[in-house]
Amino acid sequence: MSKKFYIKTFGCQMNFNDSERIRGILKTIGYEPTDNWQEADLIILNTCTIREKPDQKVLSHLGEYKKIKEKNPNALIAVAGCLAQRAGWELVNKAPVIDIMFSSFNMHQLPELINQAQAGYKAIAILEEPPEDEDKVWEYPVERDNPYCAYVTIIKGCDKNCTYCVVPRTRGRERSRSLESILDEVKRLVDDGVREIHLLGQNVTAWGKDFEKPIPFSELLYEVSKVPGVERIRFTTGHPRDLTDDIIEAMADIPQVCNALHLPFQAGSDRILALMDRGYTKEFYLERIAKLKEKVKDIALSTDVIVGFPTETEEDFEHTLDVLEKVKFEQVFSFKFSPRPGTPAAEMDGQVPDEVKTERMRRLLDLQKKIMSELAKRYERTIQEVLVEEEKNRELIGRTTTNKWASFKGDKSLLGKIVRIKVTKSSPFSLEGELVEVVK
Ligand code: SAH
Ligand code: SF4
Ligand code: F3S
Repeated sequence: MSKKFYIKTFGCQMNFNDSERIRGILKTIGYEPTDNWQEADLIILNTCTIREKPDQKVLSHLGEYKKIKEKNPNALIAVAGCLAQRAGWELVNKAPVIDIMFSSFNMHQLPELINQAQAGYKAIAILEEPPEDEDKVWEYPVERDNPYCAYVTIIKGCDKNCTYCVVPRTRGRERSRSLESILDEVKRLVDDGVREIHLLGQNVTAWGKDFEKPIPFSELLYEVSKVPGVERIRFTTGHPRDLTDDIIEAMADIPQVCNALHLPFQAGSDRILALMDRGYTKEFYLERIAKLKEKVKDIALSTDVIVGFPTETEEDFEHTLDVLEKVKFEQVFSFKFSPRPGTPAAEMDGQVPDEVKTERMRRLLDLQKKIMSELAKRYERTIQEVLVEEEKNRELIGRTTTNKWASFKGDKSLLGKIVRIKVTKSSPFSLEGELVEVVK
């Protein structure tokens, strides 16, 4: 009987894509997935450590999963991802139940680590630097749940060093994946029925800068769009500082690039932006947005914001609200500042009390709620293109190119097709509509 694995993923889309790769690796060596951790021979937690909360979640899950060993003493528990990379042995000492540990640097070593653990050794493989052969990981397939939309990681790591952020520590320096390797995967995915390609990285707009002969990210967009069968392209996350005019022009020029962009601004005050070391001002950010809105018709924007960065005053915070009012994002992901071990911001004077963070967060959410209901009206009675992804309760569901969920009545044979719908009802998070025509 083949062995079973269960994987639990925390964190961002990159981590989800890493888990899809880990699933591919495990399948290659004969493991089968299970949705029930209690019947697994191998439990993997792919962890996140961006804020304090995800750290705590991992520990409480470990407390639960360790019961597996009572039933199945040979079962293995593995911890992967960013918390593993940051905390390493410190975490193993806290949770001795961990048998295997690795990170995004060395997922390709998993088969070896399983062998070591099965032989009774603790297989803790946390490396200072990514190993030279890390590109081997691309040779493994990914195992996806969504048949029509696929993530493709194009760049690992981050060189930006924002003062609050732990990612450069957990994912290392920027390493762009080669154009050839990316296009290879895109072709394989399209052959497998995928229609939407979502390029991923902590900082995708920096792709190609580290090559001997640098290639601009805009060039990659063109190359991906030329692969026959690629109907839609998205990319996450771009950094405002690297969002050059050629990228905006490529977005406008390439029909498959969706008219949506996630562009985190983090804070509206220039003083706070400087303390964060983001490398731009409020004015620079607003200018980039103005250019995007001018070139990419009806673009839907989303963003990340940190509330209560050290020394943030009421006046600073009002600049953040001002950016929300001016840009009118379709979606805002807002986080209370969380001090991360080893980051400069954690040591800064002037930490903001939690009550103040909570109060500012509430005001931010109130404002955003108002903006979202205003924006929702924009969709009423419009025609939208939707890629049909699933059938639920006898309705078809998919996303518009602006990344909004839309549902409508239609036949199952439309799964995987791009259709036009007329919007009959529009709310801040989703749309309802009627089928108008099948595009392709
Ligand atoms: N590379 C992306 C962000 C990745 S982390 C970028 O630069 O845009 C996702 C989001 O988590 C960040 O945009 C930020 O808003 C938030 N975040 C990161 N570190 C944080 C911290 N220490 N406290 C609170 N939020 C944080
Ligand atoms: Fe973190 Fe900044 Fe890099 Fe984003 S750009 S991952 S926030 S250091
Ligand atoms: Fe978390 Fe690592 Fe992503 S810290 S947000 S899983 S890069």
